Amino acid sequence: MPTPSSQPTLLRAGSRDVIAFDPLAGPPRINGARRVGIRPGTELIHPIAVTGERPLRFEVDGLPEGITVDAEGILRGTAPADDGEHELSVRVSNARGSATATIRLCVGGTLALTPPMGWNSWNVYGAKVTAEVIVAIAEEMVSNGMRDLGYQYVNIDDFWHASSRAPDGTPVANPETFPDGIAPVADALHRLGLKLGIYSDAAHLTCGKCFGGHQYERVDADAYAEWGVDLLKYDYCFAPKDQASAIERYDAMSQALRATNRSIVLSACECGGRKPWTWAAGIGASCWRTTFDIFDSFSWMWFGVRGIARRNLRLADYAGPGAWNDPDMLLIGNRGRGGVTSRLPTGPSGKHHVKLRGLDDAQALSHMTLWAMMAAPLLASHDLATSSDLDTALLTNPEVLAVNQDELGRQARKVRSSPGVWQLVKPLADGGVALSFTNLTRLPRKVGADLSAVIDAGARGDLEVIDAWSGEALDTPKVKTRLGAHESAMYVARPRQNLD
Ligand code: GAL
Repeated sequence: MPTPSSQPTLLRAGSRDVIAFDPLAGPPRINGARRVGIRPGTELIHPIAVTGERPLRFEVDGLPEGITVDAEGILRGTAPADDGEHELSVRVSNARGSATATIRLCVGGTLALTPPMGWNSWNVYGAKVTAEVIVAIAEEMVSNGMRDLGYQYVNIDDFWHASSRAPDGTPVANPETFPDGIAPVADALHRLGLKLGIYSDAAHLTCGKCFGGHQYERVDADAYAEWGVDLLKYDYCFAPKDQASAIERYDAMSQALRATNRSIVLSACECGGRKPWTWAAGIGASCWRTTFDIFDSFSWMWFGVRGIARRNLRLADYAGPGAWNDPDMLLIGNRGRGGVTSRLPTGPSGKHHVKLRGLDDAQALSHMTLWAMMAAPLLASHDLATSSDLDTALLTNPEVLAVNQDELGRQARKVRSSPGVWQLVKPLADGGVALSFTNLTRLPRKVGADLSAVIDAGARGDLEVIDAWSGEALDTPKVKTRLGAHESAMYVARPRQNLD
C-alpha cells in the first residue's frame, strides 16, 4: 500500500485547486523531454526525468554505442559522430509499478528541441552569486524533485567574472566568489546529471559592467567548453543599436560555440529590440528574449507578467523545436523577496527603485500557466530552499510541464477571447490539445469551451480530459468553470488510444 505521504494533496491558489505530489513516492512516471538534441561527437549528460518511489530500475534499449545509462537514469557518454535519430525505449520500474516511454536522441545541429528548463541566479542573487550558491541550488533541484520533472540547467548569470581577463585574454572567474574557477562547479553539476549555464554579453562589457565577449568569441567559447559549460546566455548591453550589428555579433559567438567540442545552447538576450525572432534561430540560437526584464508584478506594463505575455503571445508563429520565444524567467517563489526582481528601477539613472509586492497565489498560477502554454523556457529564479509548498507545486506539476515540453513544440495561440479573458490553445504531438483560460481582471468570470471542437479532426472521438492543475479527470470535453481575480484554468485532452 502506498504510504500516506505518497497521496497527493490539494492546495489552493485563489479559488483553484492545485495538486501537490511527493516526487519521490508512488509508481514511476516518466517526465521531461521526449526529444533530446545533441551535436555529433559531443558529451551527452541527460537525466531521464522520473518521479516515483526510490529505488528505480532503468532499462534502456536502443542506446547508440558510446552512451550508457547509470543507476540514477542519467544518460552519459559521447554522441555518435554522425547525424541521425536514435529511438531509446525506456522502461522504469519500482516497488509500486512500471512505466515506459520512447525518448528520441536526435544527433544533429539543433539543440533544445523542447524549451530549456532550469534555474537562473539573477532574480534572487544578482551580483551576489557564488559557486556555493550554484552547487547548493543544484543539490536542492535533485532533492526537491525538480530534476525528476525535467529541470536540468543551473545558470550563473552576470557577475561571475574577475575584474579583468588574464594577460593572455582568457576569461577568469572572480577568485572570491568562484575560488576554484568554473570547472569544478560544472563537474559538481554534471555528477548530479545537471548542466551548467553561464552569462556574457556581445560588447566589451556586460550589463553589470563585467568584461563582455565581443572580439573574444573564440577564446571565450573555448574556455567555456573546457570548463564544461552547457549553455550561454548572451546579453546585448553596450552594443550597437542596429539589427545588422546584433546579427553579426550573435553569429560570431554562435560560430565560436559550434567550433568547440561541446553542445552549448545559445540563449540570445537582446531584449527584443531588433526582432530576434526573425533571425536568432537562423544563426543557431535556441531561444531569444522577446522583452525587457521581468519584474515581480502582474502588471500590464513592460515589466509585468501580463505586459510581457501580451507581447510574447503575438510571436507564436516563430516558435518551434530548437527555436523558442523567451519571455524571461519565472518569478514563482520570489513573492516580493527577490533581490533584483522585486525592486523596479525608476527614473533615467535607474538609481531609485520602487519595492514590488510580488505576485499573489492566483497571479503565480496564471504566470506558470501562461509560460507553460507559450512553450517558454522555464527558468525558475528564486531561493529554492525557501519555496512554499504551493510554489513548489506550481513549478512541478507533471501535466503542466508535459504541455510545455510537448515535442510538437507549438506555442499556444489566443483564440476567441472574451473580454477580460485570454483563451489559449496549444496542439500536442499525440493529437491532443491543451487549453487555458486566464482571467485578466479582478472581477470573477465564467468561462467555458468544448475541447473536442479545438482538437485536430483526426483525433476527435474518445478523449481523456483532465484539469491539469487539480489532476482531476473530467467526463466531458465541454469544460466550464468560474475564475476569480487573475486566476487561470488549464485543461488537457488526449486521444485515449494514444495513452501509454
Ligand atoms: C539584463 C538581463 C537580465 C540579467 C542582467 C544581468 O540585461 O535581461 O536577465 O541577465 O542583464 O546584468
